[in-house]
Amino acid sequence: MSIIIKSASEIEKMRTAGKLAADVLEMIAPFVVAGVTTNQLNQYCHDYIIDVQQAIPAPLNYKGFPKSICTSVNHQVCHGIPNDKPLKNGDIINVDITVIKEGYHGDTSKMFSVGDVSPFAQRLMDVTYQALFLGIEQVKPGNRFGAIGHAIQHYAESNRYSVVREFCGHGVGRDFHEEPHVMHFGKVTEGAFMEPGMIFTIEPMINQGKKEVKTLADKWQAVTKDHSLSAQWEHTVLVTDTGYEILTLRAEEL
Ligand code: MF3
Ligand code: CO
Ligand code: CO
Repeated sequence: MSIIIKSASEIEKMRTAGKLAADVLEMIAPFVVAGVTTNQLNQYCHDYIIDVQQAIPAPLNYKGFPKSICTSVNHQVCHGIPNDKPLKNGDIINVDITVIKEGYHGDTSKMFSVGDVSPFAQRLMDVTYQALFLGIEQVKPGNRFGAIGHAIQHYAESNRYSVVREFCGHGVGRDFHEEPHVMHFGKVTEGAFMEPGMIFTIEPMINQGKKEVKTLADKWQAVTKDHSLSAQWEHTVLVTDTGYEILTLRAEEL
């Protein structure tokens, strides 16, 4: 068991899969408004991935997950299951997309605001996005994976937020979840050394309140124990000879 180093041709396929996953987030953006249900968002994404991208929505039936995307609203931390409840003004929602194209996975998620959100919710989303990028900036050969977690934890906690411990980033490629576990907390001296050709996600979940989460009876949906808001952003990242390449970058991030 070890961290897979992708070949040049595998990296090319991962670029394609990453781009498709990013494209789904761009496609769905105008539909994330008050009144839409997360089941409708699921249907739009499912149809787009299958019919337009001719790809596969990886979550569907993955270890029994019942839908094609994850939608995590407000105090939901991750793995939210789309349902028939309409979004309402002021909600914040994470949409997490994973597509499989030519056997390779692209995995990415972002936060959306529904209408006008509170300044507290906006700040949580902004700090979490910044935390993701501080983590990404630690990606280069010779750094350990712990450097990513350290950067994220330090920034989140300096803003008086907490980092969820139960879920991590992960290697990604032919499999949805490969080695290593990419922690969003820790020390720079921990973890394996990064090497060119490694591909993994960074996907911090940051809570407004305490770090503890609980998983609902459906065994999937994770929520904050104290019902405080939670935010998450995710990118799939390649280690290059000199640093990193984000495989799931959207136009709005250029
Ligand atoms: N996309 C999630 C991740 O970032 C995993 C979702 S698993 C599912 O790792 F089954 F809920 F889709
Ligand atoms: Co992921
Ligand atoms: Co994901």
